[in-house]
Amino acid sequence: MVTSLPPTPPAPTAAAQSTPAQTTKDRLIVALDFPDSATALACVDQLAGTVSWFKVGLELYLASGESVVRELKRRGHSVFLDLKLHDIPNTAAAAVRSLSRLEADLLTVHAAGGRAMLTAAVEAARSLPHPPRLLAVTVLTSVDAASLAETGVPAAPVEQVLRLARLAAECGIDGMVCSPAEAAALHSALPKALLVTPGIRPAGADAGDQKRIATPQFALAAGANMLVIGRPITAAPDPKAAAQAILSDMAKSNPTR
Ligand code: C5P
Repeated sequence: MVTSLPPTPPAPTAAAQSTPAQTTKDRLIVALDFPDSATALACVDQLAGTVSWFKVGLELYLASGESVVRELKRRGHSVFLDLKLHDIPNTAAAAVRSLSRLEADLLTVHAAGGRAMLTAAVEAARSLPHPPRLLAVTVLTSVDAASLAETGVPAAPVEQVLRLARLAAECGIDGMVCSPAEAAALHSALPKALLVTPGIRPAGADAGDQKRIATPQFALAAGANMLVIGRPITAAPDPKAAAQAILSDMAKSNPTR
């Protein structure tokens, strides 16, 4: 059960309203958290015509290599490749160039890699004929104040999220992956950043292992541009109907970003 939905966020700012409008379908990314490409593509088949964006993370990418990304692109879908790159600048830039053959639309890098790595990744992406938009991962939602302190960062997670997000934006990173609880703060600090939020549950849905969750309407009203949703769709008895119900809730929220 959803135990703690946050209060209604403040109305989006004028800057948010100037961001180009997206269709509701363009705002939904379904997370393909599956151990192999056959299962993932069977789910994609079920969602055909309803969902256009899919997220491929480390589990599926390491299991299937690039074939699943190529197949998604061949079918005309948009791909969020969530590989969370984090290495020395030269290697991170080379990885961005190497992944360019897949023509992913969104690609993640860790903001904690620092200014030189972020700048190298941005420059590598900009040199490509079909550059992915780069998203920074700031503080993983599994990290709390105590684990941050253990790594030598004596700050509240939200403070560190904002610090890393500002650094990433200065380096030319297009957006951030953030929890719905951080979306309003990030949106207000960085109104032009593309905000992509996981941790979404329709009202009354099972939270699973997610701790800080919010409804699609909350996340959109807080300033999220795109929502990443996995199990509420992929583990539903009828994934297509579940996706349609979520899209219809999202459409009712009248997002202005
Ligand atoms: O099934 P569920 O909707 O919880 O899936 C959320 C997706 O978003 C998963 O692929 C998860 O790895 C990803 N994610 C997350 N929290 C983050 C970053 C990514 O849940 N901070």
